[in-house]
Amino acid sequence: MERLQKVIAQAGVASRRKAEELITEGKVKVNGKVTTELGTKVTSSDKIEVNGVKIERENKVYFLLYKPRGVISAVSDDKGRSVVTEFLPHIEERIYPVGRLDYDTSGLILLTNDGEFANLLMHPRYEIDKTYVARLKGIPQREKLRELERGVVLEDGKTAPAKVKFISGDRKQNKSIVEMTIHEGKNRQVRRMFEAIGFEVTKLKRERFAFLTLHGLNAGDSRELTPHEVKQLRTLAETGSLT
Ligand code: URA
Repeated sequence: MERLQKVIAQAGVASRRKAEELITEGKVKVNGKVTTELGTKVTSSDKIEVNGVKIERENKVYFLLYKPRGVISAVSDDKGRSVVTEFLPHIEERIYPVGRLDYDTSGLILLTNDGEFANLLMHPRYEIDKTYVARLKGIPQREKLRELERGVVLEDGKTAPAKVKFISGDRKQNKSIVEMTIHEGKNRQVRRMFEAIGFEVTKLKRERFAFLTLHGLNAGDSRELTPHEVKQLRTLAETGSLT
């Protein structure tokens, strides 16, 4: 037995709070009867409708994909470009990506059919660390990288302080590699942060999402998250730590 608002949120229809509103507003039916009580418990055989539409209750599945470059973080693309779900063709559940990576960014992306879990991980309030490795045109001075650590002003606001690590520089070819960890998810944030300090990102890869890495995977590979990893991600998002 699970609480009605939780089941609605898990189906990806709405956040848990919004699901509660839908219930109290009389928009939810259980087995054909309007139910406005928030504590209502339902089983997997109960038929639940939101605004007259039956919700689908699939088994929850969770995957990690090493997205190659040149792939859209979506389940379909009207321009016919490759999309992330093509890399998990054998999965019957209707999975979708948790957040997004740019078309030209490679790296770690999660996919699930658990709407509540996806919302939890994407919400900026929960501050999940994501680590990117950027190849830059040029070699930034330490002082320039400090600006990223303090936060830079972008057109949609100032970024939170980032963790930055200089990995290597190649004077002959005038390029460098810098690792940066952020917990926000503004559009093209990493590229724009480097641009803000005068450096163009020529290649970008997300290497870490919280404690998850791409270890053992090649571009295009995926694996299922273990139940323990899913639990840890939930704990991390909800409490800010793993203990
Ligand atoms: N920052 C970017 O610039 N691109 C991404 O895909 C992710 C973060």
